[in-house]
Amino acid sequence: MVNRSEFMIEARELAYYYPGEEKNSFPALSGINLAVSRGEYLALIGPNGSGKTTLLKLFNALLAPCEGEVLVEGISTVDENKIAEVRRYCGMIFQNPDNQLVATTVEEDIAFGLENMALPSAEIQNKVIAVAHLLGLEHLLHQPPHLLSGGEKQRVAIAGVLAMQPHCILMDEPTAMLDFTGRRDVIETVRGLNRDQGIAVIHVTHFPEEAVYADRIIILNQGRLVMQGPPEIVLSDVSLLHSLGLQGPAAVELAALLREDGFDLPPQLIHCRELVHSLCSLERKS
Ligand SMILES: Nc1ncnc2c1ncn2[C@@H]1O[C@H](COP(=O)(O)OP(=O)(O)OP(=O)(O)O)[C@@H](O)[C@H]1O
Ligand SMILES: [Mg+2]
Repeated sequence: MVNRSEFMIEARELAYYYPGEEKNSFPALSGINLAVSRGEYLALIGPNGSGKTTLLKLFNALLAPCEGEVLVEGISTVDENKIAEVRRYCGMIFQNPDNQLVATTVEEDIAFGLENMALPSAEIQNKVIAVAHLLGLEHLLHQPPHLLSGGEKQRVAIAGVLAMQPHCILMDEPTAMLDFTGRRDVIETVRGLNRDQGIAVIHVTHFPEEAVYADRIIILNQGRLVMQGPPEIVLSDVSLLHSLGLQGPAAVELAALLREDGFDLPPQLIHCRELVHSLCSLERKS
């Protein structure tokens, strides 16, 4: 029974210290207040060590808050009796799919979480086939996962999470090990699930081009939330991004250089296509 709280996930005054971290100058996370709406696509960016992975683990009940609380569908992640429920609502995809794929065939891998729920085998079979169909994996069902490409493996990992009918998919740099095509396939798959099925997504990425399509971007730095807003606002703030050691999308970086050279471009250009249109219209005016 879903507790229909207003938000899918809520973090209130959340802090987390790893054991022995008292010696560090800052905790892994502190003072985090964040509410994620149903169906929202949130991109989480920030430099190495800023607390992104730690935050996802707190949302997935892999870690318990040291201060404050995390509510998933209104359920506290420290409620021992409901941890399985929290993990079912918030499925997690890791950077390296090899760490997530455990079975001898793709079919068994997708079924893994469902088997743990002790569902009847006909129901498991139906769910696996439906998910494989949705993600275009039917032709791979009898393959051993280790023979797949990186992008295919990551889509199998997503299928395993999807079979559990999550309300939110947490992704920790899911494309870091993939080439351009693999990255595009995984991102299109997840954007499709968000758009068509209303599944919320929290996507940790070091690729600014992957963050441009989010509904909202959050920046973490030294365990604190330093900025949040729509992509046009957050990703076009090139001085903030550079001060944190981050890069903007290609269009933002190029537009900043063009402005330095006197081109009168509108603010908040984050897509290459918008930049090209703006440059062409300047050209035509002159
Ligand atoms: N298992 C651990 N034990 C002790 N400290 C840890 C552990 N995992 C992370 N930390 C520390 O917690 C802080 C936040 O780490 P976290 O992995 O959440 O950062 P991140 O933003 O995901 O970084 P990256 O971009 O490198 O993946 C860092 O200072 C890190 O050194
Ligand atoms: Mg990380």
